[in-house]
Amino acid sequence: MATLIQLNDIANHIGQEVTVRGWVYNRTDKGRLQFILVRDGYGMAQCVAFKKEMDEQEFEIASRLSQESSVIVTGTVRADERAPGIPGGFEIGIKNLQLVQQAEDYPITPKEHGTEFLMDNRHLWVRSTRQWAILRIRATIVSAMRNWLDDHGYLLVDTPIITPAAGEETTTLFGIDYFGEPAFLAQTGQLYNEANIGSFGKVYCFGPTFRAEKSKTRRHLMEFWMLEPEMAFFTLEDLMAMEEQFVSAVIQRVLEKHQKELEILERDTSSLERALPPFPRITYDDAVERLNKLAAETEDPEQKELLKMEWGNDFGSPHETAIAEMFDKPVFVYHYPSVFKAFYMQPVEGRPEVCRSVDLLAPEGYGEITGGSERIYNGSLLEERVSKIGLPREAYAWYLDLRRFGSVPHSGFGIGLESTVAWICGLPHIRETIPYARMLNRKYP
Ligand code: 4AD
Ligand code: MG
Repeated sequence: MATLIQLNDIANHIGQEVTVRGWVYNRTDKGRLQFILVRDGYGMAQCVAFKKEMDEQEFEIASRLSQESSVIVTGTVRADERAPGIPGGFEIGIKNLQLVQQAEDYPITPKEHGTEFLMDNRHLWVRSTRQWAILRIRATIVSAMRNWLDDHGYLLVDTPIITPAAGEETTTLFGIDYFGEPAFLAQTGQLYNEANIGSFGKVYCFGPTFRAEKSKTRRHLMEFWMLEPEMAFFTLEDLMAMEEQFVSAVIQRVLEKHQKELEILERDTSSLERALPPFPRITYDDAVERLNKLAAETEDPEQKELLKMEWGNDFGSPHETAIAEMFDKPVFVYHYPSVFKAFYMQPVEGRPEVCRSVDLLAPEGYGEITGGSERIYNGSLLEERVSKIGLPREAYAWYLDLRRFGSVPHSGFGIGLESTVAWICGLPHIRETIPYARMLNRKYP
């Protein structure tokens, strides 16, 4: 009796008769020999149908199998260095083959396809080896983040998706009709985290967040997943110290678990291997100065223009890339001007034009991975800021309450899951980091 196996485990079944259930990734026809690459969701193995070793009718089926047909294959596992697959190096000599469904002409063939075509066929594209590798790494990133926090005393406390008020800027809200009253999809869970620390000290939330930003860059999604830790009695310095431990632990976990997937993605992992604490820390002022110095030294007039930076402006992606290139690890940039940061950020003592904020910039042009800050904990200052963002004060009454009942200095940050996946996997565009991307021109499939 053959054992039902998963192909990630094939090495433990050499010489045994096994059954594999999956889909035909590719078939090479050599007449009396059919090389059928079968993937089962866990891995992929070359299954060989040899005419003289099989029932005639089953061999006939094997020699007509189309790409992505579903099959159940039984046969003996042999080690063979040359055999392609994941992990590769094993072959199954088919004894029995059962066709579950003969697939129609599959739209995604081994030839090159345009990205829009692939995105239109995302429901099928997720089966491709590259996408398989990316989404497996994504899942590990999620579990590594959650495990680190769970192991370090942070409690998962869920925050709502339908909210009565903005969490970040009011210009990027997705409005919905809540039984005749306006409501919004959450841009962040942070404000609720700030309530939850009053009960639990250190918390995090993790969920989808929404930004209606008419932006088409390779780093923007309308719907993205964000993990947000929030800590009572935490300074900006505490925050950076925690973030570097957290981020490097996540990277180490992916490096341990996913060499094969990183290989499939042709990811050069040297920069990931270097991402160990401590990460360099520079102020926004320092970053601006460094950029202008670089601009002054740059010959190329176009590059010069891109790098120039006026104090008080936010960085564009050429700036972030250039700053990151000055270091061989992810870099913290802190104390940004308050004008372009969120309303809840604590001003720097004696210098209110800058705030206790910090972003983590990834190497290799991947840009901002995390954004965080110390929060304003003084009630009247926060009141002033809330009135400035121009939403009804009633919607924030509960948030302001937090400053009336045992307010403490506190800090937190948000890490974008998709930005992190893009960086770790080395992907040029964020659309491949999430199973079903929501972008300016796309909500299908
Ligand atoms: O800097 P952001 O907007 O921070 C917040 O939302 C804070 N409330 C977080 C906090 O302090 N609790 O977003 C944090 C991260 C960014 O660094 C980026 O990685 C990601 O979320 N992000 C996006 N990812 C994809 N598409 C978008 N439109 C994103 N906007 C932010
Ligand atoms: Mg940000």
